[in-house]
Amino acid sequence: MNSFSSLLQENRVFSPHEDFSSKANISSFPQYDELRNKANSNILNHWNEQAMNLHWFTPWDTILNWNFPTAQWFTEGTINASYNCLDIHLQTANRNKEAIVWEREDGITASYTYAELHERVSAFAYSLQSLGITKGETITIYMGMNPEAIIAMLACARIGVVHNVVFGGFSSDALKDRINDSQSVCVITQSTTKRRGNDVALFDAVSNVLPFCPTIRHIICKQKPDLSTHDITIPIIDWDEFIHHEHQLEAIPLPSEHPLFYLYTSGSTGKPKGLVHTTGGYLTHVRYSFSLVFDPKPDDMYFCTADIGWITGHSYVVYGPLMHGMTILIYEGALNHPHPGKIWELIQHHKASILYTAPTAIRAFMSAGNDIPHSFDLSSLRLLGTVGEPINPEAWMWYHTIIGNSTCPIVDTWWQTETGGIMISPVPGAIPTKPGTATIPLPGILADVVRKDGKSASANEGGYLVVKHPWPGMARTIFGDDERYTSVYWSEFPPNSEHNGMYFTGDGARKDDDGYFWIMGRVDDVVNVSGHRLGTAEIESALVSHPSIAEAAVVAKPDDIKGNALIAFVTVMKDRSIDLDALKNVLINHVAKEIGSIAKPDDIRFTESLPKTRSGKIMRRLLREIVTGGVISGDTTTLEDFSALEKLRSDED
Ligand code: PRX
Repeated sequence: MNSFSSLLQENRVFSPHEDFSSKANISSFPQYDELRNKANSNILNHWNEQAMNLHWFTPWDTILNWNFPTAQWFTEGTINASYNCLDIHLQTANRNKEAIVWEREDGITASYTYAELHERVSAFAYSLQSLGITKGETITIYMGMNPEAIIAMLACARIGVVHNVVFGGFSSDALKDRINDSQSVCVITQSTTKRRGNDVALFDAVSNVLPFCPTIRHIICKQKPDLSTHDITIPIIDWDEFIHHEHQLEAIPLPSEHPLFYLYTSGSTGKPKGLVHTTGGYLTHVRYSFSLVFDPKPDDMYFCTADIGWITGHSYVVYGPLMHGMTILIYEGALNHPHPGKIWELIQHHKASILYTAPTAIRAFMSAGNDIPHSFDLSSLRLLGTVGEPINPEAWMWYHTIIGNSTCPIVDTWWQTETGGIMISPVPGAIPTKPGTATIPLPGILADVVRKDGKSASANEGGYLVVKHPWPGMARTIFGDDERYTSVYWSEFPPNSEHNGMYFTGDGARKDDDGYFWIMGRVDDVVNVSGHRLGTAEIESALVSHPSIAEAAVVAKPDDIKGNALIAFVTVMKDRSIDLDALKNVLINHVAKEIGSIAKPDDIRFTESLPKTRSGKIMRRLLREIVTGGVISGDTTTLEDFSALEKLRSDED
């Protein structure tokens, strides 16, 4: 793709608005193109230059050690993530600038300047160290969206303790698995968080699983809970008593490849996997991508609605913006509570200039009508972003016109927990956008769409989305399971005479005539529901763990708001007489207990048996076709039991 001329002639192309471009760091396509050519012609040099924008205690000697599929970036360099988010600002004008502005559903607010955040993080790090928690050990953070959660993350980073943030919406069983798999020695939590007017009892969930988590030595809890109803052998440390402001700990220089965090995400098989992200490369990628995609300005009020339990929360609520000295706005609670326009009120009240959110949220707000956003002053906004799932053109247009007043560029950012940072996105001052596409890879990222044989697909031909050169933010492995890392991501396109091995994203995509990437969704058994990534295997195993269920198959059905809805097909144990209507609700709640509410099936369908191949594999493709109402196509001659299929089809009618 050399020019955008063909694209500009099409109807649905939006050139960067002049108001935006005139002030942008990268303000024209030629300027962008120069950067891209320079980066892609010498990728290592490009990342070397980006790494120099960080503070390093000692320089690196090698930019990349690549031993397929293991990458090490900036080896021998020493660095600290907390230092790069906090200490670097102390001698600058950012010192007394607000770093975090926080609001909670019930109206409670707080804010911290960079100096105040630094002071709290340093004191908390000191206290963690005084508990005997040492570099390389892991702490699980299970909290709501509040400053303490960020303080906990940065305090871990300050002393080289690996943080493992578990989304507060996950159930205690899911929490237990993540604590045990990561071998956490401590849990940092809070008594309750707020969600739609309810108190969500986080501490209770921790307390329930504690007897099954032998590695835990300490629990630190914000708002000390009433312990009279708990039977806990470990003393519960009160957050406020734990922090001693007179003790401040300097950031520890850590090797570039020291793990910064584990983050669990769903895959197509088995239990969620703990992706390992390390320090120097991750920070380099996140700092660089933040700068290109969000074009930060000193007086921005930056509002990313992601929870810190997800990768977006890590990279673009915490590390990216703080490295840039941004003021971040965070909200603890549901964005449409206590009233449907809460998100717009937050933007108006705090004069947010950048909004980064998920298409699901946009679709939900869109369905609530235009009057709600129209009753707020959103004129402070200058840039809009989306992440987590494809955005349908209608939602894009609504976001653009109703929220962005037809002047704010939209950055549709494609990336994954595994990639650490944004990979494909428009650079807002330079790249024309089209509703529904994340446009083109960032300079330095060699993404492509390929056929099964690894050769590039033609324009408009669907294929597999891959990355052809290592990048610094890439996950290094799956914690404790190097083999699984290799087999999930690197075995589809291993090195051969034509290429050096490609990272397989699990997504299908096509490139259009202008080279724009259109993400077509997952090609594996991972489903994106409301921007949350769920493995169907995980939900199936939750269902079959119920004593009434023999077999289960979960498939996605397109949904106007959530992107996808989950439909479960189940067979019940033969020897039982069961009230199926009652069982439906029991099963839905059972999945919520095993995983969390986000994984609840939208519908459960009971069937005599499931369609299978002769080798016994459930034919999910057929089930998908049934739920989407499509005609069953393709080869079905391997079906073991045609009657099963007939039964499902007649149920559908
Ligand atoms: O399928 C893609 C989809 O979300 C997956 C990654 O999910 P997760 O690791 O939870 O990270 C989400 C936040 C980065 C991808 O494999 N996805 C993410 N962003 C987009 C997207 N699909 C289409 N367009 C996007 N902008």
